[in-house]
Amino acid sequence: SRCDIGFIGAGVMGKNLILNLADNGYRVCAFDLDQGRLNALLEQDAKERGDQPARVETCNSYTELLAKVKAPHLIILSVPAGAPVDDVCNKLLDAGLKADDIVVDTGNSLWTDSVERAKRYEGKLIFFTTAVSGGEVGARFGPSLMPSGDRYAWSRIEPVWHAIAAKVDPASGQPLERFEPGNPVTEGEPCAAYIGPIGSGHYVKMVHNGIEYADMQMICEAYHVMRSALDMSPADIAAVFREWNKGPLNSYLISISAEVLATVDAETEQPLVDVILDRAGQKGTGLWTAVSSLEVGCPAPSIAEAVYARSLSTRKVLRTRAAKKLQGPAVEPIEPAKRAEAIAELHDALYCAKICVYAQGFDLMKLAAREQGWELNFAEIARIWRAGCIIRAVFLQSISDAYERDVKLSNLLLDDFFAEQIAEHQGNWRRAVADATLKGIPVPALSSALSYYDAFRMESLPANLLQGQRDFFGAHTFSRVDRPEQQKYHVQWSEPGRPVVEI
Ligand code: 6PG
Repeated sequence: SRCDIGFIGAGVMGKNLILNLADNGYRVCAFDLDQGRLNALLEQDAKERGDQPARVETCNSYTELLAKVKAPHLIILSVPAGAPVDDVCNKLLDAGLKADDIVVDTGNSLWTDSVERAKRYEGKLIFFTTAVSGGEVGARFGPSLMPSGDRYAWSRIEPVWHAIAAKVDPASGQPLERFEPGNPVTEGEPCAAYIGPIGSGHYVKMVHNGIEYADMQMICEAYHVMRSALDMSPADIAAVFREWNKGPLNSYLISISAEVLATVDAETEQPLVDVILDRAGQKGTGLWTAVSSLEVGCPAPSIAEAVYARSLSTRKVLRTRAAKKLQGPAVEPIEPAKRAEAIAELHDALYCAKICVYAQGFDLMKLAAREQGWELNFAEIARIWRAGCIIRAVFLQSISDAYERDVKLSNLLLDDFFAEQIAEHQGNWRRAVADATLKGIPVPALSSALSYYDAFRMESLPANLLQGQRDFFGAHTFSRVDRPEQQKYHVQWSEPGRPVVEI
């Protein structure tokens, strides 16, 4: 009998998605150019299934793959973003893929590439995408899935994605997690929802990653302040993060940060974090989010700062030179009695800044959706991020609730709940940012979020002076507060009395 799904790419993510599909009763035929990966997949399947029959098949060519999978074919790709996606699509076409066959790209593709691919392959195959979040464990036991594209393709893939996605307990909004091969979670709400036309799913995943970058950076800033200004050990900081994880900051990223900080390097017996080189890597999705925010004209400064922080971290040689030359402030050691207060301030700083980062991310999705003509369901997007994905957090339930209360909400900061939360905690946020600044510890994401908040809530900004400057040197004109905005004015700066003329 034929397989239900053809799967191309048995790397870390691919292998785990295949085993997840198998756990949920799908018969998968896998193909990878690297035979070693296929062997590893078969071995893993053998190990997990015990004396049950094999759940996964492999094959040696694209042609064999098509022969082994039921028609019309459903082919899932887990290959590196970029040229490999097109390469595989073309190979599948050469092998005889038909116009009613579906190809689903699950990589971290650039959303505009997905749009172009759907056009390029129109009439040759149905190109669909599903952005996947959750890393290897998510892929294996339940990721968060952001599908987009052709509706017919969605009708075929929907039951598959619902089966393998992470699940949430509808009553509590909490993830239903079970990390047991062969025993998937089948109850609860699946973290997979149709996002919209082709491109929209990858756009939403891109913004997810931008938020992920900012979330991670802010946790690192809190760590940096505790380590340097509060003179705490990695183990002490792990304990603080574990405590924070019981409250509104409860999230996967806080919990894994505690794990990293609590780990000791077996070889050196140092805290692991102290033997990890402080040069951050990145594969591009945070950068794409920042670039898109600039293009769309939507402020997302904390996401951009998180990307810059990674770039600055890579300039280790320069930093090492600068550390010897550039002065910071003279800092008094913290009195132990003040430590608890400083930790509470950092907690609130992280909470308020996190609200601003999500406000930035959701605002960006809203503006991009308007530009592209997508109708995004923000309550649903927040819902499918409650489990499975890297930014999963209790906080996402509150975001979903905010968009349930008002589907047209123009910015998360204007939701009553979030406005009140910031009103209540902002004193601590300001103190934490001010204190870090006075002590010379960089907090680019926490502080840019604060400036975003302050600028966002100002009726008057100094852009009036800016318009004056522009008119002065470039005759760029300006509008007046006391006349209709479309009417433009220019000052004849070199004339006596500097007359204002209507343009
Ligand atoms: C996820 C992650 C995942 C990957 C990112 C981050 O949602 O599962 O975002 O997609 O880890 O690409 O990678 P970088 O930090 O290397 O950019």
